[in-house]
Amino acid sequence: HGTSKINAQGHLEIGGCDTADLAAQFGTPLYIVDEALVRQRAREYVESFRASGLKFQVAYASKAFSVMAMCAIAEQEGLSLDVVSDGELYTALKAGFPAARIHFHGNNKTPEEINMALDANIGCFVVDNFDEMHLLNALAGDKGKKVNVLLRITPGVEAHTHEYISTGQTDSKFGFDLGNGTAYKAIQEADAQPNLELLGVHSHIGSQIFEVEGFQMAVDKVAGFAVQVREELNITFRVINLGGGFGIRYVEGDTPLPISQYVKAITDSIKTNFSNAGYPLPEIWVEPGRSMVGDAGTTLYTIGTSKEIPGVRKYIAVDGGMTDNPRPALYESKYEAILANRANAPLEETVTVAGKCCESGDKLIIDLELPKSESGDLLAVFCTGAYNYAMASNYNRIRRPAVVFVKDGAADLAVKRESLDDIIGNDVIPARMQQTS
Ligand code: LLP
Repeated sequence: HGTSKINAQGHLEIGGCDTADLAAQFGTPLYIVDEALVRQRAREYVESFRASGLKFQVAYASKAFSVMAMCAIAEQEGLSLDVVSDGELYTALKAGFPAARIHFHGNNKTPEEINMALDANIGCFVVDNFDEMHLLNALAGDKGKKVNVLLRITPGVEAHTHEYISTGQTDSKFGFDLGNGTAYKAIQEADAQPNLELLGVHSHIGSQIFEVEGFQMAVDKVAGFAVQVREELNITFRVINLGGGFGIRYVEGDTPLPISQYVKAITDSIKTNFSNAGYPLPEIWVEPGRSMVGDAGTTLYTIGTSKEIPGVRKYIAVDGGMTDNPRPALYESKYEAILANRANAPLEETVTVAGKCCESGDKLIIDLELPKSESGDLLAVFCTGAYNYAMASNYNRIRRPAVVFVKDGAADLAVKRESLDDIIGNDVIPARMQQTS
C-alpha cells in the first residue's frame, strides 16, 4: 500500500527508496515514514469534510507521532493539532505550527503547561474536569485573557476496541459524565466563568474503531445534550468535537472503512440531528491520530540471532523490540512483516520475532511466515507509524531509533538516532558518591 513496492532487486522500496539502502545509510532499527501516504490521509480527511459543506477542523492528534517534521506536514496540509502536554506543545510551536490551530487536551494539565499555552495564545483548551476549569479561568484572568474552551464529555458510548484503549464509558478518568448530569452542571459552570469562552463540547469514544455506529451513537448523544442545553440554558454550541479513533488495517481481519465513509457518517448524522431540532449547524472537529500516520510507518530491523526449539517454535531476534514498539507487549497488538531484502523469496518457515530486551514478553510478532532468514537479513514491520516512536522507551538503556521521511526517492532524517551520550545525558553522579575510598 502507499508507495511501498518490491523493486527489481527483490527489495522492499518505500517512497522510491530501497530499504536496503536506507539500512546502510541510516542503520537499524529505523522508522521509515511514507510522506506521500501521510499527506494523502490528511487530504482524505480535509476533502471529505469539505464535501459535507459543514465548517470543520481536522486536528491531527499528535500523541500518535509527535515530531517537528510531522507538525510541519500537518501545518502544510491545513490541519489543526491536538497536543496533550508541554512537550507536544513545545514540539508544535518550535516547528512553527500556528498556535491558533492548536488544541490542548489532557486530564491533568499543570499550571505551568496552562501558562505556556496561554502565553502562546493557542486556539482552544479542551477542559476535562472542574478543577481544571477553575484553574484555567484563574490563570487566564491573571493574564487578562479570555480563552476558547470545549468541555470534554463522556457520552457513555463504548466502542468495540481493546479494553485498555477505551475512553468513552462512564467509568473513565476523562471528562464530564453525560449520564449522571455532571456534564450539564459543567456547562452551567463554564458559562459562568468570566475568562472562558465556551465553544461547545468534545467527546472521544475510543481508538482503532471500525464501525460507524459508535460515532453515530456519540453524535446522537451529543446532539441530544446540545438541544437540551439550548432549550434550558439558552447556550448554543458552535463546535462539536468528536475526537479520533478511526481504525486502520494492521493485519488481515482488520476491516477499517475508507476515511471518507467515517466522515460522511459523522457529518450526515450531525446534519440530521441538528437540522431536525432546528439547531444552527455547528462546526465539526475531529482528532485522528492513528489513521493519519499509522499505515505510513514501517520499522526496519536487522535480524541477528535465532533459536530453534524443536517441535515448539523458532525465534528470530531483531535489533529492536518493545523499546521501539511496546504495543504487542502492552496490548497484544498484531503486526505483519516481510523480509525486506528478499521480499520475493518463498515463505518457508514460521517464526516468532523476538526483540532484544531482557524480558520474555518482548516479542513483536508470534507465528510469522517468512522465507528462511539469516543473520544480517532485514525485517520490515508494517503499520508502525502511530504510537510506536511516540511510545518508545530507553528500557535496558537501548537507544531510540532514527526516523526518516521518504518521498520520491529522497530520504530525509526527521529524528536522529540517539547516541550513547544521549543515554547518559541527564545522568549525574551525586558528589558524595564520587569520593574515593
Ligand atoms: N483524541 C483524544 C481525546 C484521544 O484520547 C485520542 C487517543 C485521539 C484523539 C486519537 O485517537 P486515534 O485516532 O489515534 O485512535 N496508545 C494506544 C492508543 C491510545 C489512544 C489514546 N487517545 C495504542 O497504541 O493503540
